[in-house]
Amino acid sequence: MINSLRGMNDILSEDYERFTYFINTATEIAQKYGFHFIETPLLEETALFKRSVGESSDIVGKEMYQFIDKGENDVCLRPEGTAGVVRAFIQKKLDKAGGIHRYFYHGAMFRYERPQKGRLRQFHQFGVESFGIDSVYEDATMIMMVSDILKALGIGYRLQLNSLGDINCMPAYKENLIDYVRKCKDGICIDCVRRLETNPIRVLDCKNGSCQELYVDAPKLLQNLCPTCSNDFDTLKKILDDNSIDYEIDTNLVRGLDYYSKTAFEFISNDIGSQSAIAGGGRYDKLVEFLDGRPTPAVGFAIGIERLMELIVMPESLRNGYYIGAMDDEAVDLVIKLAHAKRKTDKTTIDYKTKNLQKHLKAADKINAKYCAVIGSNEIKDGTIWIKNLKEKTEKIIELKEF
Ligand code: HAM
Repeated sequence: MINSLRGMNDILSEDYERFTYFINTATEIAQKYGFHFIETPLLEETALFKRSVGESSDIVGKEMYQFIDKGENDVCLRPEGTAGVVRAFIQKKLDKAGGIHRYFYHGAMFRYERPQKGRLRQFHQFGVESFGIDSVYEDATMIMMVSDILKALGIGYRLQLNSLGDINCMPAYKENLIDYVRKCKDGICIDCVRRLETNPIRVLDCKNGSCQELYVDAPKLLQNLCPTCSNDFDTLKKILDDNSIDYEIDTNLVRGLDYYSKTAFEFISNDIGSQSAIAGGGRYDKLVEFLDGRPTPAVGFAIGIERLMELIVMPESLRNGYYIGAMDDEAVDLVIKLAHAKRKTDKTTIDYKTKNLQKHLKAADKINAKYCAVIGSNEIKDGTIWIKNLKEKTEKIIELKEF
């Protein structure tokens, strides 16, 4: 038997309903915020991710589905959505056009990680990218949008916030941090030794407990921001306070991708185990320029759809359509005929295997039908049909003609 690859799941039946419900809810909210849909290819040149996500990141260093195609091109399956959207933005010369451009997307992403609960090799993101606004108000808007999406789905969260500074304050901070970490170099893990060379601030994010103990007194990013970054961060906190969005400051939040500056945030759930990040994002003002576009400020986020699946509270109102079942063999022909007529206006599922009423009701409930209609030999004789509204829990017998 051939199974799916490790960390790559099928999405079907009830999961698919949840999945579509998520996409519809998030799309509706993104459109209310004035964002437009964008679709980019699953396959891109490897260089795109090396230059954006960064060669020192785990994503590019260890997790890419990278290969040489038949035309000798070095390509890879996208590990995230931002780089492709930025590439499209530049390729369409929207950077040269100026103005504000806001996009949302959803689709599969690929990372060759060690699979576990909540960590897949093929997973889906819903993401948003906003170009052309350097105001921290847009950062706050991003956070509000994630919050609105999660609230609409009945999902609780904790928001963690940090500022990564900009070219005016980050380089000096990095030097301070390197000096500090070098002093405790004998005690740090092998990954942190490598990080010191490739991307020093990522030591702050090390999952090794003994490294974390050594870094307790390390210089803090937030205490080393330049006045502009510091003021922006204060403004961001004020906007979130004014809009009743709770947050925690996490000075060690550095994100796993290299393109961020200033605002960085993650939404965490306490209810899904160790892979608790359900969304992440931040500002990336240098990326467009870095990919050879005209300098354009930008900010965005992505939500991990699989991590939300079990948390989504499906609304009762999603019940729709009819389920029609036969109680006796002689009712089967009529069930097919009735369903054929009903489908002109409503979604209608039938079961022509005869069963008792309880079993039909259970089957109708399972497929989220709004009405369960059942017909047997008595009803045929009377020219009626028994029908239950599963949403309002009311039942009645009506004339077949009326049905
Ligand atoms: P990210 O934090 O790498 O950010 O991913 C966003 C979300 O995708 C995570 O919070 C998590 O929910 C989900 N995710 C990541 N890896 C996996 C995995 N292996 N299995 C299941 N879910 C996963 C980005 O990708 C950035 N592009 C976000 C962004 C957009 N920043 C600015 N704009």
